[in-house]
Amino acid sequence: MGSRVDGYKSFHQNAVYLSCPANHSCAAPNLAEIAVACGEFSPYLPGSFTTPRVTVSPSMEMLPFRSALFVCLGNICRSPLAEGIFRSVMTTERKGEGIIIDSAGTNGYHTGEAPDRRSIAVASRHGIDISRQRCRQLADEDYVRFDLILGMDDANVAAIAARQPANARAQTGLFCGIALGEHRQIPDPYYGTDADFERAYRMIRAASEGLSKLF
Ligand code: 4NP
Repeated sequence: MGSRVDGYKSFHQNAVYLSCPANHSCAAPNLAEIAVACGEFSPYLPGSFTTPRVTVSPSMEMLPFRSALFVCLGNICRSPLAEGIFRSVMTTERKGEGIIIDSAGTNGYHTGEAPDRRSIAVASRHGIDISRQRCRQLADEDYVRFDLILGMDDANVAAIAARQPANARAQTGLFCGIALGEHRQIPDPYYGTDADFERAYRMIRAASEGLSKLF
């Protein structure tokens, strides 16, 4: 676990953190291959590893991220909020043009449904309309389409890694880990109170503002 926290810190200090919940280096094979080719690290150290974000070799500049998929269990509480809040932050910062932002669930129990009314309500209280989103399940194509696939909690991150197809190119990890350099999870508010939804909103807002700096 120590190396994981170091990895998140390294990401926040201008380094990319590549995480593998299965404890080997498979979460982001493409970037890992680049870094290995540059001699930045051994890919076979278990747990985590880092490589500089901006320059991985004198001639190879890393581009900002241009797409993000937010993932939780049901895609009706946390990840629809993350989709709506991050889109709002990117629009406010005038960075949203050409950026793809979406959300999905690791399970498909609520496919086709609108977000939970409590998520719609808390977003609405903060001036964000997420009522037209519709729930969908994480799909193989997402691993090719998106630069980033971000889980709200460790269980989401593990589920994202476990179903990764062989042709994946997306970097996957914990939302707060990648956005803020902190190993914090967004607690599931589904069985909670309105206050829990407000807390989820505030955590997602802070992480979204951090993430926007990487775009
Ligand atoms: P979410 O919350 O993962 O933030 O969308 C949940 C939504 C539904 C269920 C669990 C969590 N459920 O058990 O149906």
